[in-house]
Amino acid sequence: MRLMAFRTGPDFNIFAAGDTHEGNAAFSEKAFNKFADMFFSEYENLPSDKNHLLHMGDPGEFITYKDTRYEPKIHKQTVVKQFDGIIDRYKPFEPRMLGMLDSNHPIVLDPIGNVTEYLCQKLNIEYLTYSTKFTFLSKQKEEFMFKLFATHGKKSITSTAEPQERIEANLKIAVKRQLKRKYSDCAVMLKAHAHKLIVAPPTPKLCLADNMKRIIEFYPNPIDYHQMPYIPEELRWYACTGSFLRTYLLDHNTYSEKAEYDPVDLGFVVVMVRDRKVKEVRGIQL
Ligand SMILES: [Fe+2]
Repeated sequence: MRLMAFRTGPDFNIFAAGDTHEGNAAFSEKAFNKFADMFFSEYENLPSDKNHLLHMGDPGEFITYKDTRYEPKIHKQTVVKQFDGIIDRYKPFEPRMLGMLDSNHPIVLDPIGNVTEYLCQKLNIEYLTYSTKFTFLSKQKEEFMFKLFATHGKKSITSTAEPQERIEANLKIAVKRQLKRKYSDCAVMLKAHAHKLIVAPPTPKLCLADNMKRIIEFYPNPIDYHQMPYIPEELRWYACTGSFLRTYLLDHNTYSEKAEYDPVDLGFVVVMVRDRKVKEVRGIQL
């Protein structure tokens, strides 16, 4: 767990992306290139230098022949080669990376050292441990804007309901349930690991109050709660940040195929901040 402060201008985008799984044959280079193109381009009327990358963990596979998940054709690339691949891949992002979370795949290699910390040192970025709370501060006045919680996560998110509308609702409910109790003061709460792209937006309800003369109706505005130590659970953004790993790969046995998983969208999440407030958290399908 780390507490990070980030000083910035009033308008910026956080690209929260993870589960890239370098070294897995099912890693989609095509999806990553699309993601990189977006990162190094103007996004939603902001120039590319306003885009920041938060890596959500599992940057590589790090699975050796001793691991029960080892599959010779899937894990052809050695762990050392994966280190080099990850460093080369993220070097161009380095000046605008908020850091990288620790995660379950690199942690398997703990007996030889902390792999994520090593990669972060090589990339000259912040090592964020397994979860981190970011406080975003206005560059000029040090004014507190909002807080964001990010964890790699450990729990999967599934639903066996029918029909699709209910599945989608259940996935949103699940990501919210997994994150909401972790901290009370974060306007945005993110996790990865589940390889699903899910965004659960705030769900403000119609409220009635009075001014001692008449009844006043209103919807609470989530922005008004950004700086509170307890933000009502239904007024926060929750998301699971997707992955870059294909479910199926011709002539291979993928992990997800063997686990009988349904296909999932590859992708990541963008947190759009405008005028110091969280305007939207958007899932991007690649
Ligand atoms: Fe993971």
